[in-house]
Amino acid sequence: MTINGETKLIGFVGSTYRTSSMYAMYNAAFDTLQLNYRYVPFAVTNSKQAANAMRALGIHAIGISIPFKQDIMPHLDQLDDQAKLVGAVNVVVNRNGSLQGANTDGTGAVRALEEVTDLSGKTVLLLGAGGAARAIAFALHKHGARVTILNRTKETAAELARAISDSVSFGSLDQIDQYASDSDIIINTTPVGMLGSNTKTESLLASHHLEHQPVVMDIIGKPAQTPLLTNALQMKCPVVYGARMLLWQGVEKFRIYTGVEPPIKVMEDALQQTL
Ligand code: ATR
Repeated sequence: MTINGETKLIGFVGSTYRTSSMYAMYNAAFDTLQLNYRYVPFAVTNSKQAANAMRALGIHAIGISIPFKQDIMPHLDQLDDQAKLVGAVNVVVNRNGSLQGANTDGTGAVRALEEVTDLSGKTVLLLGAGGAARAIAFALHKHGARVTILNRTKETAAELARAISDSVSFGSLDQIDQYASDSDIIINTTPVGMLGSNTKTESLLASHHLEHQPVVMDIIGKPAQTPLLTNALQMKCPVVYGARMLLWQGVEKFRIYTGVEPPIKVMEDALQQTL
């Protein structure tokens, strides 16, 4: 790795910047293709200041994670169609001082799910209605899935469902019993079960919700084996790990960062080593 006057800097912005796997994944890809880019952590607390810093310092791009995916939007100059539709961004690229937001979460989740199941005509239960859930819900609907969104705050689930289509159902998390057993696919997008959270030992679904062996996906990256996925494996459900979505959303971002075809196997191996 040589840093010189041409090096393009990309930063991770999100509360998990200390533990993110993205440094390993992108820098391995840059090294393999001998691209003059570096991916580094930025300890950001204020979205507006982060956007201004990008312009002032000529930072090439940032990857955006919780809790900035919606917060940073008003400080950008342009949004791509997906970011506009979803109402959240997970990547910002600096094109000659103009900050452009995009969203690759939906594509990432769909590719991860398609490794184990078709989506068209499937009944999907989505837990959570935050930034990631928004991208995933729009993408699932577009791929022909029948989506129900349950969220701790029911009104947020209602707003998201209405933004997508009348055919999308919604409710609160205490309705899980009502929906889980009819779902072909169940996806957790909440931080329940995440490393370092006060719910790290918890799962929103119990074993009795999984007796019919739906596909279970948890978008949490760390730990890889969340309490939900442990339950799902015990019940012999097909599972989709958060790392698969991390990989595929990152593969898509790599194209945005560099305009170059990503070395997927290199990224996959580097990601795997950090988990
Ligand atoms: P992300 O960008 O990763 O989606 P987010 O936008 O902060 O993160 O969304 C977090 C989601 O997890 C929200 O749906 C949130 O529910 P609320 O809308 O009620 O806030 C949900 N969530 C967060 N903590 C939770 C908890 N302890 N139990 C259940 N749901 C939780």
